[in-house]
Amino acid sequence: MKSWLVTGGCGFIGSHLAERLGRSGDRIVVLDDLSSGRVDNLPSGVEFVKGDIRDAGLVAEVMRAVDGCYHLAAIASVARSNEDWAGTHAVNLTGTINIFDAARAAALSGRRLRVVYASSAAVYGDCTDIPLAETAPTRPLTAYGADKLGCELHGRVAFQVHGVPNVGLRFFNVFGPRQDPASPYSGVIAIFAKAVQEGRAPTILGDGKQVRDFVYVEGVVDALTAAMAREDLTCDVFNVCTGDATSIESLARLIFEIYGTTPDIKHGPPRAGDIRKSVGNPHRLRTVLGVPPTISVADGMRRTLDWMRSTNR
Ligand SMILES: NC(=O)c1ccc[n+]([C@@H]2O[C@H](COP(=O)([O-])OP(=O)(O)OC[C@H]3O[C@@H](n4cnc5c(N)ncnc54)[C@H](O)[C@@H]3O)[C@@H](O)[C@H]2O)c1
Repeated sequence: MKSWLVTGGCGFIGSHLAERLGRSGDRIVVLDDLSSGRVDNLPSGVEFVKGDIRDAGLVAEVMRAVDGCYHLAAIASVARSNEDWAGTHAVNLTGTINIFDAARAAALSGRRLRVVYASSAAVYGDCTDIPLAETAPTRPLTAYGADKLGCELHGRVAFQVHGVPNVGLRFFNVFGPRQDPASPYSGVIAIFAKAVQEGRAPTILGDGKQVRDFVYVEGVVDALTAAMAREDLTCDVFNVCTGDATSIESLARLIFEIYGTTPDIKHGPPRAGDIRKSVGNPHRLRTVLGVPPTISVADGMRRTLDWMRSTNR
């Protein structure tokens, strides 16, 4: 039986990963401070440690008895990173260094454990080489994106200097059940769906022509587990995307179509630092990591909206 640590396992993506890993019969430990996650997101049988990745001592302790760490804990909010620059940095970058450092300590005592961590498409910033391949220039426009790029740079140090094997996954716009609709920073899908459910006119920030690459959460879990399984990958980054471009306006219309409504759409001011186009190139994800395409945006949307209706979340 293997043993895995999932940081941020009470959150949206982490809880789907914990669910998948739990099915294999392995031991799963989740470290989460519940700042945005919920304990009731966790499947049964998971060991839960309430704590903060900024606490290096605690991180070292939970890393001591695992075979690998899926590091997903972060303040996953671009807007918050712009408002609380130093505070989000302490979690998003220093917290990640704590993970690598604990893996380094394990390596020093003869245990080579792997780290697979969440990076983000935000590392590309305003780069216009669409579709974005991993070799495209990284020009983050937000503190969040800069910290995610920092994680990748420290990932390089972790392997080159300290022998800690690691893989960073640049998630594009992930969606699916359990994405928090209450947060003003959460995914646009959850926000639109909630507005329709509550009979409010949904607001699109900007003109709605911004284009994104939406990837259903199941595909992200496929990428996470594939990256952990590949022991030959010592220090690498991969896009986790579909390569399909969806405008925010057409996404809103898809949601309304599934709900059978035609609400008026309001437009608000564009978000600071909002990029016009973010579409990834999934070539290396498919050919090197061997992750097959996930379900379509429309099918993923139906599953997500069904879940929202059935749970009232
Ligand atoms: N959702 C997306 O579209 C997306 C896109 C790109 C990257 N990511 C990255 O994927 C990861 C997971 O994102 P998510 O959407 O599931 O977000 P989420 O907010 O649902 O999950 C993050 C989890 O981390 C926990 N956490 C936050 N700060 C912590 C701390 N200091 N110590 C311990 N736990 C802490 C939260 O309580 C939460 O459970 C994050 O690293 C995020 O930056 C997400």
